[in-house]
Order: sequence, then C-alpha cells, then structure tokens
Amino acid sequence: MTEPAPPRLAVVIPCYNEAPNVAPMVARLDAALAGIAWEAIFVDDDSPDGTAARAKAIAARDSRVRCIRRIGRRGLASACVEGILSTAAPFVAVIDGDLQHDETILPRMLAALESGAAEIAVGSRNVEGGEMGEGLSPVRRLVSNAGAALANAALPVKVADPMSGFFALPRELFEEMAPRLTATGFKILLDILLSAGRPLQVAEIPYTFRAREAGESKLDATVLLEFAGLLADKALGGIVPLRFMAFALVGGIGVLVHLAVLGLLHGVGPVGFGAAQWAATLVAMTANFLLNNRITYRDRKLRGPRLLRGLVLFYVVCGIGAVANVGIAGLLVRDGVAGWGVAGAAGAALTVVWNYAVSSTLVWRP
Ligand code: GDD
Ligand code: MN
Repeated sequence: MTEPAPPRLAVVIPCYNEAPNVAPMVARLDAALAGIAWEAIFVDDDSPDGTAARAKAIAARDSRVRCIRRIGRRGLASACVEGILSTAAPFVAVIDGDLQHDETILPRMLAALESGAAEIAVGSRNVEGGEMGEGLSPVRRLVSNAGAALANAALPVKVADPMSGFFALPRELFEEMAPRLTATGFKILLDILLSAGRPLQVAEIPYTFRAREAGESKLDATVLLEFAGLLADKALGGIVPLRFMAFALVGGIGVLVHLAVLGLLHGVGPVGFGAAQWAATLVAMTANFLLNNRITYRDRKLRGPRLLRGLVLFYVVCGIGAVANVGIAGLLVRDGVAGWGVAGAAGAALTVVWNYAVSSTLVWRP
C-alpha cells in the first residue's frame, strides 16, 4: 500500500459556531488546491452548534481533514497558534471558517513563499485588485482602517492590510517565533509581524472580502480592547503580563466605583461613613469580579454555578488582600519607614499583586 503524499500546505481554520460552513469550506479547499498536497485543520472551541462534530464526520472519511476540539477555552489567535503547531507541513495558512476569505488565492500565496519572493503572504483587501467587498459594515470599515493606521505605526514594515486574518508562512518561521507571541485577541497576523524580531518580507495578494452567509461575527467591543492590549504588550516588550495590566486596569475602575458609591451613600445620602464604606467595598468588589470575568479572564470565563462560586472566592481573596494592605501600610507608618502616602501606595501595590496571583490560580483556574 502506498502512503498518501504528506501535506505541503496545512490550512488552519479557526471556528466558533460555524457548523453550516464546514462542509462548503472543505469542498472549496478541494477545488482551489487541486494539484497541491494539503491538509485542513479545524480548530473549534467546543462550539454549541456542533461545529467539531461536523468537521470530524468529514475527517472520518477524508484523511486530509483534521479537527482540534478545545474545551473550556476561547480565542481566535490562540486557536490559530494551536492549529499551526499541530502540523508537520512545511507551509501553513490561516483562513476564517466563515467563507469570507477567498480560498482561491491560496495557491498564489503558497507560490510566493515557495519561490522565496516573500516570507509571509497576506491576503489583502487594501492593495490594487483587493476589495473590502460587502464583508464589512461602514462602521466596521472605519474601525478597521483606524486599526490599520495604528498597527502600521507599530509595525517595522508597512502592510496595507495588517488587520487581515488570512495569511500563509513557512512553518519553521512560525515555530521559531511562537514562544514570543502574545496570542490573545483576533489579530494573529499583527502579532506574528510584531513578534518576528525583524522586519519580515511581506507579499500582499489581493482578494475581495466576501459577505458572511451563515452564522454571525464574533467581533465585539472586548475584541477591540484586546487589540489595544496586543499593541501595549508588544510596546512593553512582553515584560508585564497582559493579564496583569488588564487586572490592574479593572482594579483602577474598582477604586472609582468605590468612591462613587461612597459619595452617593455618605456624601449625598444619609448613610454613616462606616456602613457606606462596607457597601462601597462590596459593590466595587462585585464590579471588579464581573469586569475581570468579562475582560481579564475572558478566555476562562465563568458561567452558571461556577460564577457564584468564583464570586465568593473572589470576595475572600480580596478580603485577605485588603487586610494585608491595611496591615502593611500600618506597619510602615508605625516604624517610621514611610510616610502615609508611600505606605498606602506600597500596601495597595502589594494587594494588587496578591489579588492577581491568587485570582489567576484559584478563581479563574487555567
Ligand atoms: N476557535 C475559535 N475560537 N475560533 C473563533 C473564535 C474563538 O474564540 N472567535 C472567532 N473565531 C473564528 C470564527 O468562527 C471565524 O471563522 C473566524 O474566527 C473569524 O471570526 P469572525 O467573527 O467571522 O470575524 P470577522 O469576520 O468579524 O473578522 C474578520 O475580519 C477581520 C478584519 O476585518 C476576521 O478575518 C479577522 O481575522 C480579521 O482580522
Ligand atoms: Mn467573519
């Protein structure tokens, strides 16, 4: 028996709730990649619509198709990374699973890499021959253009469509930089371009962004926040964990919430200072918990009964943090090590680190 030729191109397809698009995707790849040994890797985050089951049903009869089903995790960028790292093919491409990207340019992308003309081939809507098409609403188009301008300010090479999620590169180049990737949010291409450690030679290949036929976009306000986070992470050279920055930011919002409630209850209202402080603390902690669940730990989001358990645990963690804060600041002042301002700041800083460390390991367990 002869073995089938090993794949030359692995096409990684991040999917969340794309069940109706799976079979058409495979059919389109089959047509577009005739004459090229390819494999398709669907990376699904346990979509409730049964995307993984659809992909596996095809994989069961077509050895070119594989499916990675991830449980308890979410994230477009991390799904792409995991899919790419799972292949041995010399070239890898990433394409959206909703048929919005034009798979017919994949052979040209591969050719650009194989000829050595480029180190990374990008499907581009913003070069001659490319089109935004009907894929983006006017508002999304505006956001996308603003993002592209911002991204180009950070990039060592100019890329007309840095927000593209459609690209191909040699696997070894990716593997080499993989440990440096931020791998959060939607902008995996930008992450790659910023993590290479040197300006990559980019070839942009035009295509028209299609309208989505089935399913819906997963882009929301938090994705935009993640975009800002990615740029911040790269600007800081990855020294401060992105998650910590988000946690600290949420903590800052919590302080504002606390002061607002205190002002409302005690300043404006008739509630005594002590009682108002307790109420403000409780409201601020709850707000912080919900914000962290939505933003900081978005990829490990707690739901249902685990949400309540997490909230209670968060109260306990923050409670201990607060006691430590007050205690340390008190000691510093008593021993004359620091004035009240410095002592207060030191106590608060220590508390943030404590809250973050314990939250990351106990409340939102990896
Ligand atoms: N595994 C996994 N996990 N896949 C995801 C997740 C996730 O958490 N979120 C989204 N996806 C998949 C979707 O199922 C789809 O196949 C692809 O990633 C793109 O998601 P969409 O929700 O369709 O994104 P979009 O159309 O709004 O954004 C597109 O345009 C951007 C530029 O305007 C994408 O192509 C982006 O990559 C691109 O940057
Ligand atoms: Mn889409």
